[in-house]
Amino acid sequence: MESSINQNNVSIILFIFGTRPETIKISPLIKEFRKYSEYEIKICITAQHREMLDQILSFFDIKVDYDLNLMEPNQSLFDITANGLKNLEEVLNDCNPNLIFVQGDTTTAFIGALAGFYKKIKITHIEAGLRSFNKYSPFPEEINRVLIDHISDYHFVPTNKAKDNLMKEGIEKNVWIVGNTVIDAILQTKAIIENNPELEESIITNLEILTNINLRKSKIILITCHRRESFGKPLENICYAIKEISEKLPDFEIICPVHLNPNIKKSVYSILSKIKNVHLIDPLTYPHFVWLMSKSLIILTDSGGVQEEALTLGKPVLVIRDVTERMEGVDAGTAKLVGTNKKNIVEETITLVTEEKKYFKMANAINPYGDGKSSKKIFDLLNKNL
Ligand code: UD1
Ligand code: UDP
Repeated sequence: MESSINQNNVSIILFIFGTRPETIKISPLIKEFRKYSEYEIKICITAQHREMLDQILSFFDIKVDYDLNLMEPNQSLFDITANGLKNLEEVLNDCNPNLIFVQGDTTTAFIGALAGFYKKIKITHIEAGLRSFNKYSPFPEEINRVLIDHISDYHFVPTNKAKDNLMKEGIEKNVWIVGNTVIDAILQTKAIIENNPELEESIITNLEILTNINLRKSKIILITCHRRESFGKPLENICYAIKEISEKLPDFEIICPVHLNPNIKKSVYSILSKIKNVHLIDPLTYPHFVWLMSKSLIILTDSGGVQEEALTLGKPVLVIRDVTERMEGVDAGTAKLVGTNKKNIVEETITLVTEEKKYFKMANAINPYGDGKSSKKIFDLLNKNL
């Protein structure tokens, strides 16, 4: 490989991330960069998440250089932003990178980009260009994205739609369509599981212990939710919808790995505990979750990453949000926006699992998020264009 990054004096590359989805999506890229010894790779985690992040670092075998250890119980946006930014100043002074990578739309990604800008370091944004066009939904991610995109120097967008969004905002330089690195992550993980029967056996055994059901024989509905804009009434609506679905579909098993955010746990456990076919469990490690997605009939979620992954696995998704910045899945026909209205969620779920024609139409749509080679494309493009 030509080392044109080095010729332009870019040799220290700093990856800054801090939550579960960023870690999953940035790990394949770190793996790609690690193939080339001429680059000095440095890893800084804010640890905005802790347990949910550590399990992924361990699975992808990522060693950390700087751990800001920021997570506090029920942390506010002010805490993460202010503490994180101040800590990043010290990291940048110590590491003195030539290029910073941030991913997606979290507060960690925002302060990572802002810190880079304050030190006049070039910033690369992965998963750029997503927009819901609603300032408060997803909150605070929509505005984080806009700010990160306007601060960044290099923009890797997953789709044409994301590129168009940037063009409309006047961001036209250094924009490349590469798909989403989450597809790299899920395909690599799926292959690891498929090539290792012992691992697969242990995943199934663990999950059967956690849920107390025979997973091979069960019809599974998988559910995740965590969005800040859903706290309170919308989340309660979602929970009451799940309760009603469990009553109307008694032969289905509903599995909810519950996000560790206390605002989520409180509502979910108070409404959905002790229902025979609803299984509330702690967040799963990535391979466990990937396996469970692949065995589920349908997925109800407000997660960005899960919307993208489900398409790769051919699983119909009901998006339990009022707006999504990932309209590609909806346009492709695999995802459907069902909002947070209880009646709507119940009706759409029952229709999907009872009407075969509708189900297969959604399950067979084409994945618009890439082919699993995004990390390589990002590496090659940066190498050529810096
Ligand atoms: C964060 C991101 C959101 C992203 C989501 C993915 C922000 C503002 N929010 O939301 O964009 O979609 O992650 O999951 O950047 N907690 C633990 N252990 C963990 C993780 C979280 O106990 O490993 C609890 C803590 O009490 C923590 C709380 O969850 O304070 C909230 O975490 P936080 O990162 O603020 O927000 P999320 O809702 O996880
Ligand atoms: N995920 C996981 N374990 C779980 C639930 C989700 O590993 O119990 C993974 C999932 O496969 C996806 C990512 O976490 O890659 C999504 O994270 P989250 O929903 O927290 O954030 P978002 O994608 O909405 O920002």
